[in-house]
Amino acid sequence: MVDHDCYRVEDLITAKAIAARVEAMAREITDYFQGTDKLVVIGLLRGSFMFIADLVRELDLPVEVDFMETSSYNDSMESSREVRIMKDLRGEIEGRDVLLVEDIVDTGHTLRHVLTLLKNRRPARMLVCALLDKPSRREVDVKADLVGFEIPDEFVVGYGIDYAQRNRNLPYIGVVRFNGDD
Ligand code: IMP
Ligand code: MG
Repeated sequence: MVDHDCYRVEDLITAKAIAARVEAMAREITDYFQGTDKLVVIGLLRGSFMFIADLVRELDLPVEVDFMETSSYNDSMESSREVRIMKDLRGEIEGRDVLLVEDIVDTGHTLRHVLTLLKNRRPARMLVCALLDKPSRREVDVKADLVGFEIPDEFVVGYGIDYAQRNRNLPYIGVVRFNGDD
């Protein structure tokens, strides 16, 4: 458990459980894209940086890595529902196999926006992989093809995921609990 001034972080998913799940997901992705000449793995910054780093190391495929940054949270805990592209891809994806890597699918606005944008660029095949999914929070009908863990409606941090830019470096995933809330 990590203690901050006004909140603490309670363990939810251990580093060991994450590693096992990442390995299993990488096996599924490797099977799915077997024979590809090049897979472009796209990480959505910043939350997916740790996940993508671990995931690509387990992929037995020719891989290129690219990043896109979206913004919707403005350091708060509530999605603004308006998705802005802060940084676009460096490379072209037309005719390429694409794996989109997201940290959490929450309301779904981010994923829907990015999927529409990327599909317009006409990739050959596209697979979406999300480490976490909060299905009970969904506001738009969108789904990742592969999900690491389904979690309840809780605000989580760690393994790349932040609260107001902090706690990204935790090697596990935990729930933010405000002092005085219980
Ligand atoms: P959505 O557009 O509401 O689906 O939100 C997606 C983005 O919000 C994710 O990529 C995360 O960056 C952020 N997010 C959603 N839930 C959490 C959370 O519990 N902790 C930290 N960030 C979150
Ligand atoms: Mg994100």
